[in-house]
Amino acid sequence: MTTCTLPHFWALIPAAGVGSRMRADRPKQYLELAGQTILEHTLACFLDHPQLQGVVVSLAPDDPYWPTLVCAHDSRVVRAEGGRERADSVLNGLQRLGELGAQDGDWVLVHDAARPNLARSDLDLLLAELADDPVGGLLAVPARDTLKRTGPDGRVLETVDRALIWQAYTPQMFRLGLLRRALAQALAAEVAITDEASAIEWLGQAPRLIEGRADNLKVTRPEDLQGLARLWHTGR
Ligand code: C5P
Repeated sequence: MTTCTLPHFWALIPAAGVGSRMRADRPKQYLELAGQTILEHTLACFLDHPQLQGVVVSLAPDDPYWPTLVCAHDSRVVRAEGGRERADSVLNGLQRLGELGAQDGDWVLVHDAARPNLARSDLDLLLAELADDPVGGLLAVPARDTLKRTGPDGRVLETVDRALIWQAYTPQMFRLGLLRRALAQALAAEVAITDEASAIEWLGQAPRLIEGRADNLKVTRPEDLQGLARLWHTGR
């Protein structure tokens, strides 16, 4: 796979969440890992890619941390206003991309701010596999553990067949016009949207899953940050 065969793309990083499960003194994307904030590491996964056209980061309006980062002054990185839910933040980001000249047919890769260990090989795999796809898709990892469904009393109702179960990761790669329509309509209908793919599914389309690396972890709990620090210390 050579880089020149990969499509051009825009990156959109929703970073307006507070990450309360980290129990930290600041939003989790601003916690430090190996000398830089998680958000800086996440942006670095995209900024050195030759096919990148620009990045939009959706931020809380009163975010005091962002202006202190070096990448906030990078001309390729533009700020958008975050919203109440992740889907609102992404929709605002798509609007901003349009203002920057992005077209409805352009690819947009939406990636969690707190997923700083995206391998370049996974990013290139996603771009290559979906370049000609009519719908788009996302990185995902097959379920590894045995899965249980529980009842309200916390006891096992049944063991779920894991062969068809995947964990949805990011980036999630869709064309700007389709994703904007899906999110706007799903939000208007007050459908629960936890990732971009679920909005596309709600429109009746089937995103493709591309198997990615399991270490493309999202930092959610304190032990995730410790795990990543150990991983990076021993060499990625
Ligand atoms: O909380 P969780 O890790 O699931 O959030 C996923 C991503 O969505 C994070 O990068 C978070 O900052 C972002 N988000 C957002 N706007 C919100 C809620 C979450 O940009 N209102």
